[in-house]
Amino acid sequence: MDVESSKAIAMIPESPKKHKRRNVCLGVTVAVNLVISLVLLILGLTVFKPKQLTTTVDSTSISDLKVSLDTARLRVRVNVSLDMDLSIKNPNKVSAKYKDSSAFLNYRGQVVGEVPIPAGKISADSTKPMNVTLTLVADRLLSDSQLFSDAMAGAIPFNILTKISGKVSIFNLFKVKFTCTVRCDLVVFVSNSTIGDQKCKYKTKL
Ligand SMILES: *[C@@H]1O[C@H](CO)[C@@H](O)[C@H](O)[C@H]1NC(C)=O
Ligand SMILES: *[C@@H]1O[C@H](CO)[C@@H](O)[C@H](O)[C@H]1NC(C)=O
Ligand SMILES: *[C@@H]1O[C@H](CO)[C@@H](O)[C@H](O)[C@H]1NC(C)=O
Repeated sequence: MDVESSKAIAMIPESPKKHKRRNVCLGVTVAVNLVISLVLLILGLTVFKPKQLTTTVDSTSISDLKVSLDTARLRVRVNVSLDMDLSIKNPNKVSAKYKDSSAFLNYRGQVVGEVPIPAGKISADSTKPMNVTLTLVADRLLSDSQLFSDAMAGAIPFNILTKISGKVSIFNLFKVKFTCTVRCDLVVFVSNSTIGDQKCKYKTKL
């Protein structure tokens, strides 16, 4: 065998037989991938079909309330801490992750307190309790004359807004964003440090 011809053989790219085998191999891979994708898609549309998360406010209580009325100068100083126990239910077969969120305490349309809700996750098929404590420190509202009349009347209306958003991700293929919003209107009775007239509205967007 001379050098020239052996080189020529080496230069031939592929025998037709080898080419055919590679095509078969490619076909099988494509088919397997298709089947896997199909199975994942079916699972994604059935067992793992994203279901809506639900939020519930279990209770709200006052952990601290101090009101000092200065009737001579028509001023009031109010310190109040409200504990809200809420929980989020995740009915999905995978966990739900939420971003850093917040709860706000509002008084007559004005934000008077805020508490961060650090990012976290809610395990599959479970309910996660979340307790938030919102505090109003007196000095923030000194100038509000309406607070004086509310305190005099013995009932101070507040609103607590909690918004938690994140996503449910299934096999890293389907990512569904969610936002749970809870808005509770309530009244703090000064005389007996209780909460009355609590009305909560829930909104969930999946
Ligand atoms: C409200 O809280 C602040 C700081 O914690 C305190 O200095 C103030 O005396 C409190 N006011 C009342 C009315 O208790
Ligand atoms: C939330 O508060 C409730 C009642 O006050 C308590 O039973 C529960 O353990 C608290 N949950 C968390 C996560 O702190
Ligand atoms: C607290 O006081 C308010 C009004 O002053 C009253 O409506 C409410 O029933 C009282 N709550 C309790 C638990 O005594």
